[in-house]
Amino acid sequence: MRKIILAAATACLFASPALAADDPKLEAVEARQGYYKLLGANMGVLAGMAKGEIEYDAEKAKLHAGNIAKLSETNISFLYIPGTSAEDMAGKTRALPAIWKDMPGVGAAAKKYVEAAANIAKVAGEGRASLGGGVKMLGGSCKGCHDNYRAK
Ligand code: HEC
Repeated sequence: MRKIILAAATACLFASPALAADDPKLEAVEARQGYYKLLGANMGVLAGMAKGEIEYDAEKAKLHAGNIAKLSETNISFLYIPGTSAEDMAGKTRALPAIWKDMPGVGAAAKKYVEAAANIAKVAGEGRASLGGGVKMLGGSCKGCHDNYRAK
């Protein structure tokens, strides 16, 4: 047991790129990007099923839609600390300065996403067509935020 913990600790030591833990801003950026990556990974399966690229499976669709609904309930606004925009940290983040200038707008975009996530969790298991409708609504909510608040 002790050996395993030690091995894990050593692995962490060597795996930490740019020592994010020593830099709270970089740590916040990496944490929020990790959140979106997880969101994207679940969305990818659902979009693939809706398009017919992945065979529709009600249980799998419910699992991924449920993951997204749970993720949408996680408030990550604390990761948008001042000084972490794409202008402040070029090449590290795509978060546009508009986020800090227009919090109500970001909040409105986030609300649409939360609603679309709750919706897809309800409809994902009801067949491919229902899932497709859910994916369309959810995808629209992602785009609604990215268009205004994420650099290309
Ligand atoms: C309220 C705004 C908002 C919503 C809603 C939103 N995103 Fe994003 N997303 C962002 C911002 C801002 C970034 C850039 C974060 C950064 O680079 O620091 C981002 C980045 C990403 C990334 C890139 C992560 C990386 O590797 O750096 C993916 C993938 C992504 N979003 C997927 C999604 C999906 C899928 C949805 C919808 C289910 C979604 N996002 C909804 C704002 C949003």
